[in-house]
Amino acid sequence: MKSVTYPFIILSALILSACEDGDGASGATPDEPLATFFKPIPDEPVYPEDNDYSDIKAELGELLFWDPILSGSQNVACATCHHPNFAWADERAFSIGSDGVGLGSDRVGFEETGMHSPSIVNVAFTGMGLEEDTAFVSGGYFWDLRANTLEAQAVQPIKSDVEMRGFDIAEEDIFPIIVERLSAIPEYVEYFSQAFDEEPTITEENIAKAIATFQRTVITQRTRFDDYLDGDETALTPREITGLNKFVNGGCARCHSGPLLSDNTIHEDQPVITSADAVRTPSLRNVALTAPYMHDGSRATLRSAVSLYEDRGDLEVVLDDDDFGDITVFLNTLTDETFYRGVPASVPSGLKVGGDIDL
Ligand code: HEC
Ligand code: HEC
Repeated sequence: MKSVTYPFIILSALILSACEDGDGASGATPDEPLATFFKPIPDEPVYPEDNDYSDIKAELGELLFWDPILSGSQNVACATCHHPNFAWADERAFSIGSDGVGLGSDRVGFEETGMHSPSIVNVAFTGMGLEEDTAFVSGGYFWDLRANTLEAQAVQPIKSDVEMRGFDIAEEDIFPIIVERLSAIPEYVEYFSQAFDEEPTITEENIAKAIATFQRTVITQRTRFDDYLDGDETALTPREITGLNKFVNGGCARCHSGPLLSDNTIHEDQPVITSADAVRTPSLRNVALTAPYMHDGSRATLRSAVSLYEDRGDLEVVLDDDDFGDITVFLNTLTDETFYRGVPASVPSGLKVGGDIDL
């Protein structure tokens, strides 16, 4: 009898002292099953009915993504601000657009966006919740969710003076000019005619469809976190598990949920974390690779981004420094670098691949 009671007492004492600790989140077990909040990342992107997948469309979209022909002065491409070297973001607090030269933190110029550039990885899954929904349509996009679909999103940077259009061409003129430029390049004419059925094939709508199709192919693979969700208890280290449980018990998973750890919702009632109005919850997949953080890029490191949640009245518990450390260790398990793919050797326009990104 004694030999049983003794360890029991020690165990109770341990549990008690853990509780008496008071502040800080418990990392021993999640308060609710993990499946209440998370699901593994899907293996395949989902394509909408009105823009289904084809190899040729995705290839065309990739070339357009890298080709500065879509910008007013033919010097900025989508890839200028969404570059694989920076996990398809740009490593800057705010991006430099139409008058810039260089890449990432080396880029110089005056035309700056007022928002931080998010990664385009996994945009195929943006907005996906926990339910099995075969009719899933991804979205919305941008920090304020102003674009409902990826197709609607794609035309906006092209029309934006700061980002790609520049200040010499009027907004209503930019797409007619781009269509004319593309129509003069036989390789593009061939691509568009193979990718789309109805004439004319080179249109604003089809440019957007091809770019969206390409972006949907840029997804991450499963990480150790996904294996853990599927029941492999050895997939994460004890500290990573502690961090995950604190992430749940600390209330983070209330908004950072679903396969991307984002509900893609604007929480009007949340205390404003950084400078501006409320913005949507961002994905935390690959978050370790996409510094700086927040919609204004105001946090340089992941640890400092996580520490912003100090003294947040809307979280269930008060988190302390140890908790932030454990949670950061957990967030590092959401990294998968297979999204990286080569840079095209050339683009059909013959312009600089990715725009003026070489200093
Ligand atoms: C000058 C830099 C710049 C260029 C060029 C640029 N973007 Fe962006 N991109 C941004 C910024 C900044 C945001 C966030 C803006 C906001 O939310 O208001 C953004 C947002 C996005 C988003 C939304 C992601 C999400 O999670 O909601 C997608 C998708 C995207 N860009 C794709 C593109 C495509 C496609 C092109 C080319 C047609 C492009 N971008 C060109 C800087 C740029
Ligand atoms: C009420 C919803 C909500 C809760 C709860 C919440 N977040 Fe967030 N999270 C957001 C929003 C919204 C942003 C973007 C804020 C901004 O850009 O100003 C964000 C941004 C982040 C970022 C930066 C991501 C990036 O790419 O810039 C990290 C990291 C993060 N949250 C981690 C956490 C952690 C850890 C917790 C728990 C301690 C937590 N969040 C709780 C909504 C939430």
